[in-house]
Amino acid sequence: MNVLVTGGAGFIGSNFIQYYLSQHPEDVVVNLDALTYAGNINNLKDIEHLSNYHFVKGSITDDTLVNQLFAQYQFEYVVNFAAESHVDRSIVNPHLFVETNVLGTSTLLNAALKHRATLKKYLQISTDEVYGSLGQTGFFTENTPLDPRSPYSASKAGADMLVKAYYETFDLPVNITRCSNNYGPYHFPEKLIPFLISRVVDGLTLPIYGDGENIRDWLHVLDHCRAIDLVLQQGEIGEVYNVGGHNERTNNQIAHKIIDLMDYHPSKIEYVQDRLGHDRRYAIDPTKLETELGFKPLYTFDQGIKETVEWYLNNEDWWRPLQERAQLKRVEENK
Ligand SMILES: NC(=O)c1ccc[n+]([C@@H]2O[C@H](COP(=O)([O-])OP(=O)(O)OC[C@H]3O[C@@H](n4cnc5c(N)ncnc54)[C@H](O)[C@@H]3O)[C@@H](O)[C@H]2O)c1
Repeated sequence: MNVLVTGGAGFIGSNFIQYYLSQHPEDVVVNLDALTYAGNINNLKDIEHLSNYHFVKGSITDDTLVNQLFAQYQFEYVVNFAAESHVDRSIVNPHLFVETNVLGTSTLLNAALKHRATLKKYLQISTDEVYGSLGQTGFFTENTPLDPRSPYSASKAGADMLVKAYYETFDLPVNITRCSNNYGPYHFPEKLIPFLISRVVDGLTLPIYGDGENIRDWLHVLDHCRAIDLVLQQGEIGEVYNVGGHNERTNNQIAHKIIDLMDYHPSKIEYVQDRLGHDRRYAIDPTKLETELGFKPLYTFDQGIKETVEWYLNNEDWWRPLQERAQLKRVEENK
């Protein structure tokens, strides 16, 4: 199989490529990534020597380049991770999110359609954020109406709608996965968990938005990668699959867990002005993935967060330069 992975130098994409090649060593993976501030080619240094792994620096919005790659490799699988992914940045520059997330997806879909002879599956990596915000009860199912509330989630929802349209109109073989918050190694240090870990390392306060009672549903990134591979291989064409691990936590609980693991002081938590339009709660119902494809996460949160803290402590040379690149000035949350 020839597989196009876009955004493969980011957090989830780089974990996915390493996981995928370990499971399918006979396949060829082409990683198309624009290397924005969030892309880091060092994430893949353990596999860059492999003859069946190729990195191409470029944008998913570059129609010529994308079509060249499709013509050259005749891809069987396309997995689109490439995105602007940070909610706070989407509040500052919404247009960039439309360009990358909507127009970029449109470019990939057009190329996939043109080169559909070999294509077995186009998989769009989406997010639970397209469903909007929940109250204290209820869960997002695949039938929950899309109700995005930030420019980030609106652009991801727009991309999902295009993918659905290419299935309905052109019969393009597609799937969409919508996952909850990921955590684990190679997570950019502007995101909540690595951000808090790095602040503890530096002996700083731990800024938390609002009252800290916003709830996210956390899944280890390698469990997400397993779910993506499962959907790629076995997902029914045209279907959407929610991905989650029944693991809701408030931001306060996340902060206290890191404080406990790193032997820090709870008094260091500092509540700061809330994010604009801050979604209160996300919670995924992954029943369809579990019952139809047999998905079960391997990580417990306690084990996953412990290993993640250890990874950041052992890999300061990875995240320290990224802090400067991102000009981190304030608490950044989530995805
Ligand atoms: N992080 C999460 O918790 C989470 C949860 C659910 C879904 N998702 C989705 O998963 C995908 C990956 O998320 P992530 O956290 O790894 O993001 P990330 O920001 O870490 O990585 C995004 C990658 O895309 C690349 N990229 C950006 N614009 C590009 C373009 N125009 N062309 C090619 N490459 C480009 C960046 O260089 C980077 O390597 C996103 O689509 C996101 O919406 C993320």
